[in-house]
Amino acid sequence: MSRPLTRRSVLAASAGLAAAPFVKAYRPQEPRDKVRLAVIGLANRGEANWSQFVNEEVVALCDVDPKHAEKARAKFPGARFYTDMRKLFDEQHGAVDGVVVSTPDHTHAWPVVRALKLGKHVYCEKPLARTVGEVRAVRTAAGASRGVTQMGTQLHAGDNYRRVVEVVRSGALGDVRGVSVWLSSGPPRMRKAAAAPAPGFDLDVWRGPVADDYFAAEPADGESKRAWPHFHWRYWWEYGGGQLGDFGCHYLDLPFWALGLTAPAQVRLDRSVGPPPDPGLNTVPAALRVEYGFAAPKPVTVQWEHGVPGPLVDGIRRRFAGFPNGVLFAGADRYLLADYGKYKLYPKAFADGFRPPEPSIAKSAGHHQEWLGAIRGTDTALCEFGYAADLTETVLLGNVAHRLGGGTFEWDAAKGWFVGRPEADDLLHPPVRKGWELA
Ligand SMILES: NC(=O)c1ccc[n+]([C@@H]2O[C@H](COP(=O)([O-])OP(=O)(O)OC[C@H]3O[C@@H](n4cnc5c(N)ncnc54)[C@H](O)[C@@H]3O)[C@@H](O)[C@H]2O)c1
Repeated sequence: MSRPLTRRSVLAASAGLAAAPFVKAYRPQEPRDKVRLAVIGLANRGEANWSQFVNEEVVALCDVDPKHAEKARAKFPGARFYTDMRKLFDEQHGAVDGVVVSTPDHTHAWPVVRALKLGKHVYCEKPLARTVGEVRAVRTAAGASRGVTQMGTQLHAGDNYRRVVEVVRSGALGDVRGVSVWLSSGPPRMRKAAAAPAPGFDLDVWRGPVADDYFAAEPADGESKRAWPHFHWRYWWEYGGGQLGDFGCHYLDLPFWALGLTAPAQVRLDRSVGPPPDPGLNTVPAALRVEYGFAAPKPVTVQWEHGVPGPLVDGIRRRFAGFPNGVLFAGADRYLLADYGKYKLYPKAFADGFRPPEPSIAKSAGHHQEWLGAIRGTDTALCEFGYAADLTETVLLGNVAHRLGGGTFEWDAAKGWFVGRPEADDLLHPPVRKGWELA
């Protein structure tokens, strides 16, 4: 086991990266030229992603579970198949222009950093990585690479998010004093279990950089349609980030975009919210409330809650019909309530007289098409890894504050640590299993 992601080594690695000779990213000469892709993680979200790239040239496929690879292999019969992403990079790096990563959160950073250092374009699912240290390594690699990047927060490309951003930016709400984001669901209850993955499943590669002892788990109530470790990894800190890690990048994307946020100055977490953790069950919380205090560009508080039916508005729990989850922007006396596909204004007198601003953010060609367009030099990928790193890091800091037992934490974004809280370092930069270092 090694620990390469200390503060010092991240800074040292960043310095080295800036000086490294990067391969110039491929850019098709003609718009009709196909982009040559390697796709890592093929079922579930992986399929949602590769099905958007069927008009490109998929030259390599990778999945730790050969069963999960069957559909993609049938779709791209000419592509070489791997169960080990390290072998794919060793053998195929000269044959691909871009890499698509749809593996669980704990195996995002390794292929992303490797691809960026090779000068490849990268599309990676949200969250950008599992830990703050990994996010920072990805940001550094992306900054030094000529590869075009896009994180898989596809709601960003929808019309609704664009219209909400325009309304907030127009000043129609007045100064936004706070944003409340909530998700009604909590995680399903899971418990550790004795179970072996299916034959042929490459467990060692699935574990990737995670240094903790491996365990299997199962739902504590009823049956699961998906055998461990597929999907359920997200409910254990070793591999995922619970509800905040899963949905935070989608919902917090809206205030980030509309208000131009980058990094919180303060993270406040009330650990008394929700039921106390059950030691026999998941490590991620059933309910959570975290407040991010942003100092710039204007002071604003953004609150995330999950496991609640509606937002806290001025200390009172509200419910909004048709919005089991949502994002509530609070102006002085006006509100905008949004979810993935719609928005509403309050109070009624404001909503009745409202005329939306003229659209100023162009319609997207689609989140995946944006990335391909940016590779071809005809479009812009709006969730490039600079933006995506800020958003993901903020999401992850809420989980770190929870795991530290709650309280108020000052975040020093320049240094990448909680001021005066050295005990946070192991959560920001957990140990990495030998062979999976990012440097
Ligand atoms: N953008 C969205 O709306 C959205 C929706 C769901 C999931 N996601 C994200 O997509 C990612 C995958 O989530 P999922 O629910 O599809 O997970 P999953 O457990 O189903 O894994 C996806 C695929 O990757 C394969 N895989 C796992 N580890 C691998 C490895 N080391 N190398 C190669 N293949 C590997 C699995 O066998 C599976 O086929 C996560 O990061 C998740 O947060 C995004």
